[in-house]
Amino acid sequence: MTTIIDGNAIADRIRADLTDCVDDLVAAGTRPGLATVLMSDDDASETYVSMKHRACAEMGIENIHDEIDPSAPAEVLFERIDELNEDPSVHGILVQMPVPDHVEKRTVLERIDPLKDVDAFHPENVGRMVAGHARYKPCTPHGIQKILAAEGIETEGKDAVVVGRSDIVGKPMANLLVQYGEGGNATTTVCHSRTENLAEKTRDADIVIAAAGVPEMIDGSMLSDGVVVIDVGVNRVEADTEKGYELVGDVEFESAKEKASAITPVPGGVGPLTIAMLTYNTVKAASLQSGVDVDLP
Ligand code: GUN
Repeated sequence: MTTIIDGNAIADRIRADLTDCVDDLVAAGTRPGLATVLMSDDDASETYVSMKHRACAEMGIENIHDEIDPSAPAEVLFERIDELNEDPSVHGILVQMPVPDHVEKRTVLERIDPLKDVDAFHPENVGRMVAGHARYKPCTPHGIQKILAAEGIETEGKDAVVVGRSDIVGKPMANLLVQYGEGGNATTTVCHSRTENLAEKTRDADIVIAAAGVPEMIDGSMLSDGVVVIDVGVNRVEADTEKGYELVGDVEFESAKEKASAITPVPGGVGPLTIAMLTYNTVKAASLQSGVDVDLP
């Protein structure tokens, strides 16, 4: 029997607990606020940002949204970040990536006040996490830890293979998996575009986390019986649908399902957790900045 992991159900439970935290903060005089900044015409980015708004609205988190023309000078974005850093009603700032080529991504990440960096992309927050005392954990890897915990999937002593080495998912995921404590203590291999014999590595794994951004690159022939498969990929591929595309993961679901003891679908697997953990970090940010303690889930 293969468990098809219901990411929406896990995210709903976390968000319900977080809503209690929001209520506690509001009762103490602080409504958590998240600022989102979009400097892109990209359809998918617009969709992601609007999903983040909806999650905030449902939980009583204030959302301040800004759109900056993608052709505007980088300084327009930097100055907006400076204003948001100074705004006491804003506890979290998220600049949707990717930003246009003429805007240096590193400057954006470093410009955000680390206390308001709910993506956990600022070097200070990356450093804290790597050192084992994270202020904020990056949303997708943190969400994957929550999925594994919710499903009772032990990582300690397991062989985990992370496919993909992005700053947003692959690298922090591998880092969290090797740390001490719950959701860690795994023997972790990071594979990427230059890895030779990928299938040999994935076949040796107890847990495969696919985050390479390549549609259906991992299929059942690359997996062993009983493996846990976490699919982070959200790839639009052309299809005969109303929108002209469909979403597929980095894993070929049907064949992988035959091998897996548990697997996340796309959509409805990791995605809802990424958004839930953004609200988690926003609530934590509001708590840290207001000095009001909350009982985070
Ligand atoms: N673009 C794709 N994923 C993310 C994310 O987690 N945060 C931000 N800021 N941009 C993204």
